[in-house]
Amino acid sequence: MVSISDSPTDAGVLKTLLSNEQLLLFGGGVVMLLAAYLASSKSKSKSHSSSYPADTKSGAARSATGSALAERKFGHWEADHVFKLPIPPPFENWDMNKTKPQPYRAFKHKYHVTMGIRNMDWDSWIELDNEWQYYHDLKLQRLQEKGEKVHATSSKAVDASWEVLYELCAYLPHRYPSLFSYDDNSQVLKILATGETFDLKDKKNLDPIVTAAKCIQDDIAIMVEDENGDYSLESGCVALAGFWRITDKYQRTLDEIHLSGDVPQYATKLGPAMRKFFRRLTVNNPVVRNNYFIQTDNNLDWSTSIGPETKQEVGWYTAPAATDVNDLYFRSERQSLRRLPISGALVFTIRTYFMPITKLCQEPYVPRRLLNGINSWQSDVEEYKGYHKFKDVLMPYLLKKAEEQEAEGLNLDEEPEVYPF
Ligand code: HEM
Repeated sequence: MVSISDSPTDAGVLKTLLSNEQLLLFGGGVVMLLAAYLASSKSKSKSHSSSYPADTKSGAARSATGSALAERKFGHWEADHVFKLPIPPPFENWDMNKTKPQPYRAFKHKYHVTMGIRNMDWDSWIELDNEWQYYHDLKLQRLQEKGEKVHATSSKAVDASWEVLYELCAYLPHRYPSLFSYDDNSQVLKILATGETFDLKDKKNLDPIVTAAKCIQDDIAIMVEDENGDYSLESGCVALAGFWRITDKYQRTLDEIHLSGDVPQYATKLGPAMRKFFRRLTVNNPVVRNNYFIQTDNNLDWSTSIGPETKQEVGWYTAPAATDVNDLYFRSERQSLRRLPISGALVFTIRTYFMPITKLCQEPYVPRRLLNGINSWQSDVEEYKGYHKFKDVLMPYLLKKAEEQEAEGLNLDEEPEVYPF
């Protein structure tokens, strides 16, 4: 395959070459993608604004709006060369040994099944902290042991998986300069802490989605739209998801992914809302959402309580009931979703935060809010989240801890109100 990126070429010429091209979502040209990235990476390195440039220019070319997207021919995408990834400022005082994980406590007094999305601040697309090394090592171990059971890329998402890696090369070294470097000319990405180097010119041997996953703590998936407007999972590296395997969800549509997992109220409520939302998601309006689970074992990568990872059928029904609160863990994901400008594919990142329930419950307001939240789960949510396997241990513990905090004078009127806390 011709590799334009082998010899850095004038960005302006490439932009002109590309400006009138239409990129089909399926199997669009890798060459075009690389050219566009070469072009855009030059201007990226000069921009330090975190606002989306197209929004700030009146009368200038603008990226497609949500309603324009909803009306287009599905499965086809016109590459968007107006969009430039907003280059983030460095995370202040970020230290891979000291920066603590973001303390998301994403549970409310009342649980509602909703999409629960918020606008994403571009600067915080990817959140890294002092657990980076642990996640990285565990991912390497999982890749070594499980190989293609934890990653896959179909021909529909090859371009998009390169695109997301180039986006990360534009983002990570600016946000976490002590952990990453990227050289635009040589196209070499380095993880400074481990000495790993990735040559993005090596299109034959480098797996872009695996490389992306090695750099970040998140699992990552790419969804590609078909001609009916359905999105399917066409690329991903999912090593730490706890309760699901990419092998079960690969090349399946969003409906199939969620329905096969018995996600509560998907058919009636979530699915229709998501379908509408996905069609209209623009390149400049990424979103995030958080969720939470209780886990009855201490495994970040795969929750063995629901059955061995190698077993075809897994589920809460096989799990033994917990007997000790020290075996209970709080598992919470922060997911981000954005549309890539060149391929039009969607990138979904899933960052898991994981800690013992006993530690979580030392924090003010947490036991009462979690107690109320879980008490408000409807039976379908209880079923999905394995309530019956931990309720006898967890609920009395939460009540005891809540009462202790309140007896010590905690003022419930002063509880912070801003989700995700
Ligand atoms: C706005 C976008 C999305 C929403 C609102 C959403 C919603 C949900 C909800 C409510 C659940 C149940 C667990 C929880 O409370 O989080 C769930 C589970 C899940 N979602 Fe999504 N989702 C979205 C996007 C995606 C995407 C893009 C993927 C692609 C990989 C995905 C894959 C899954 C999987 C694999 C599960 C677990 C299913 C199982 O238990 O087998 N979701 N989602």
